[in-house]
Amino acid sequence: MSSDTATMTRTEAIQQQNDAHIINTYGARRLAMVRGAGSRLYDAEGREYLDCFAGIAVCNLGHCHPAVTAAITQQAGTLVHVSNLYYMEPQTKLAAKLSALCFAERWFFANSGAEANESAIKLVRRYWSQQGTPRPHIITAEHSFHGRTLAAITATGQPKYQQGFEPLMGGFSYVPYDDIAALAAAIRPETGAVMLEAIQGEGGVRVPHADYLRKVRALCDEHDLLLILDEVQTGMGRTGTMFAHEQAGITPDIMTLAKALANGVPIGAMGCTEQAAAGFGVGSHASTFGGNPLSCAAALATVEVLSAPGFLEEVQAKSAVFFQALNALADKHTKILDVRGAGFMIGVELDEPVAPLVSAMADHGVICGPAGPNVLRLLPPLVATAEELKQVAETLETCLGVLGW
Ligand SMILES: Cc1ncc(COP(=O)(O)O)c(C=O)c1O
Repeated sequence: MSSDTATMTRTEAIQQQNDAHIINTYGARRLAMVRGAGSRLYDAEGREYLDCFAGIAVCNLGHCHPAVTAAITQQAGTLVHVSNLYYMEPQTKLAAKLSALCFAERWFFANSGAEANESAIKLVRRYWSQQGTPRPHIITAEHSFHGRTLAAITATGQPKYQQGFEPLMGGFSYVPYDDIAALAAAIRPETGAVMLEAIQGEGGVRVPHADYLRKVRALCDEHDLLLILDEVQTGMGRTGTMFAHEQAGITPDIMTLAKALANGVPIGAMGCTEQAAAGFGVGSHASTFGGNPLSCAAALATVEVLSAPGFLEEVQAKSAVFFQALNALADKHTKILDVRGAGFMIGVELDEPVAPLVSAMADHGVICGPAGPNVLRLLPPLVATAEELKQVAETLETCLGVLGW
């Protein structure tokens, strides 16, 4: 990289400043994205990309969706923030809208997925303590991912996210995902909840057997356990239904959301049944920014578009064609071991580390990412057209060829 600022590209200038001032938790990055529109991203050198990652399942409506931009603009000129000492119309409207779409009768708003999960964990602990029988033990799954706060990395069943941060919180056990017998065996008298992703995202786009969540629900009912579903990644239409648990025909007691809830404006939410909500009382939990007018106005606009008649049906139809194209590629390329997922949350497992493939895809104008070392994660915005999805599959084929795979 040139150190002469006069001859630097815009990307190099951004990179130099980044490297001088940002704590290096994300590693080296090659591209600087400066603009987005629909399914397209533009870098600092003016190159256009087809976005097949959506900011890790965040911009489900694509970049700068007009309805969300209008809501943000309107709210930004009206009231950006006020404390939770006051009622807020966007917050209450959002809660009512979300409740109309799922089992949850009550909501707590936070700022991220990790904080939504933190709220769920705290709710479980306080719920049982309020019942007079503390049951602080929570069972989660191996390969899970629940975020980066101390409670969330403790819940996360991947040692690589925990190492160096000990002592962890305690009170968690990890069982193999999609193994109902292992889950049953881990239940103890002090177990208060089971916490799972409906499809494991970061851990490799792992889809459980069709009846797994139903069996988990039955087990929770049998042992009087609260079921927390972390739908931070799978929620908001990502898997083709508003929430992934709809496809399993069950409802949890507690659900966490974040990522796509406000299409890119930071927000987290924990929804739960009236019964579970009794665990929190006045003063038991709070967040300065949680549920502020700006994030909730953006979320309300997002949810309205996602829940418009026909929107998710179209996503399902496009997904079926995309899966066909990817399965056809898998039939031709022996390096592809599996194509799996639901809706627009897709993992392509290879028998090679995927990092070079992710780079080659970017070089060929398509942004995607990994889910663990060997799984290519495709998370297109739900507004991606059939033509754009075809382009992703074609680019994948080209890049497999370029890499000699
Ligand atoms: C399932 C799941 N839960 C929680 C999180 C954490 O969300 P955040 O990064 O907003 O804290 C993620 C992020 O990838 C996630 O995929």
